Amino acid sequence: MAQRRKKVYEGKAKILYEGPEPGTLVQYFKDDATAGNGEKRDVIEGKGVLNNRLSEFFMNGLASIGVPTHFIRRLNMREQLIRMVEIIPLEVVVRNTAAGSISKRLGIPEGTALPRPIVEFYFKDDKLGDPLVSEEHIIAFGWASQQDMDDIVALALRVNDFMSGIMLGVGIKLVDFKIEIGRVWEGEFHRLIIADEISPDSCRLWDMKTGQKLDKDVFRRDLGSLTDAYTEVARRLGVLPSNVTHATKPTLIN
Ligand code: TMP
Repeated sequence: MAQRRKKVYEGKAKILYEGPEPGTLVQYFKDDATAGNGEKRDVIEGKGVLNNRLSEFFMNGLASIGVPTHFIRRLNMREQLIRMVEIIPLEVVVRNTAAGSISKRLGIPEGTALPRPIVEFYFKDDKLGDPLVSEEHIIAFGWASQQDMDDIVALALRVNDFMSGIMLGVGIKLVDFKIEIGRVWEGEFHRLIIADEISPDSCRLWDMKTGQKLDKDVFRRDLGSLTDAYTEVARRLGVLPSNVTHATKPTLIN
């Protein structure tokens, strides 16, 4: 089915196809997992299905509290219809607890609670390894305006509050996450909306009691089955029925 459509873009974990109407795209979730800017790669059966469903769940939740997103509707197990946006070339990261690159860069032990949520920006460029940049760089190089940056920080913090609360409710700590932001044009004005995906590929999720990692670090650090970890997140959120233990053939709940 997907093959008949025109491919617009292929990334490491997703493919974008032309959508059925102007201004729309079909986002296809692959099973491919990569880490370290593509240095480590594997195919994790069922990952795409889980991320498609989880991203739908988070995007719908955000829409319900008035945070605009690109998500229109899920089409099938691996595909969702989304609004076409102009992607701002930034990975916007929000951190609640130190882990990953901030721990390495600043020597803060993983698991240290941060005094407040910290918003960081990385310039999206695989060749450069997505370097950390400041608002100064972003505005000076014209990747976004000062107004955009104010809106992006506000959006990122709203996503953080929403996601932290949802996760807290199912016994999971939202350590950090990454979002991408898109522009949609309305005449000469634009609005900013949440784009790309929100899934355990782009978050750090730790079980509150045991500290067990339920996110892509399981793959990055060889900690066990990534599918089992993502299935556990989906099961706790009620996205998959509780009797599904393995995600190769998930049963969808409508
Ligand atoms: P980091 O600790 O490696 O900087 O990552 C912070 C969070 O953002 C972590 O949940 C992973 C996510 N992230 C991505 O999903 N893609 C990226 O390109 C980057 C830089 C981070």
